[in-house]
Amino acid sequence: MTRNSTQVSAAILISGNGSNLQAFIDAVNDGSLDLNIAVVVSNRPDAYGLLRARNAGITTACVQDGDYADRTAFDEALADTLEVHEPNLVILAGFMRILSAAFVKRFEGRILNIHPALLPKYPGLNTHQRVIDAGEHWHGSTVHFVTEELDAGPRILQGRVPVLADDTVSRLSGRVQAVEHKIYPQAAALFASGRLTFRAGESWLDGARLDEPVQYNGEF
Ligand code: GRF
Repeated sequence: MTRNSTQVSAAILISGNGSNLQAFIDAVNDGSLDLNIAVVVSNRPDAYGLLRARNAGITTACVQDGDYADRTAFDEALADTLEVHEPNLVILAGFMRILSAAFVKRFEGRILNIHPALLPKYPGLNTHQRVIDAGEHWHGSTVHFVTEELDAGPRILQGRVPVLADDTVSRLSGRVQAVEHKIYPQAAALFASGRLTFRAGESWLDGARLDEPVQYNGEF
């Protein structure tokens, strides 16, 4: 992957499988996403996503939470590791650590997250099981800017899937992830092209405030 001088540069943070990371790599490779993935950082050395990054020739780093005295020290080390690569965008892709207010401030307005639920419904963990237990008819995933409040930053893009009568967590999460792999690279593409911005705590697209997230309907 060669970089041109105007290209937006991203750091992608992972903790595990990295199927969303793979979707970014694939989108860059097929030309649908104009982004330089400068570094992939994991808080776990055994994250499979690190292998995906290395296979794609992307620089990797590991900042292990166990190596630091507390969350503040870990977040500082993480931020310092990212800053070496001067990212314009920080993409959380299955990064299973809650970031401190100080970290969020350092990268304010340029951190994206994807949460497997139709936010503001179901913030937090175990969303698929909670959705099945509640008898919901719809589920999905939301890309949003990260603010200090967990899963509550301004929303950008949302993809919905139906919940089927005999759904299991594994089947439902598989369908949700298929949607994630479409909407997350697309949200990054909107940011990279300058169409999507964060202003005063809100998402703006094409110069208009997004009061509701854009709904993905199967095509862009
Ligand atoms: C995704 O489903 C995302 O919604 C959540 O963590 C999961 C990460 O999966 N934040 P993967 O590691 O990208 O496969």
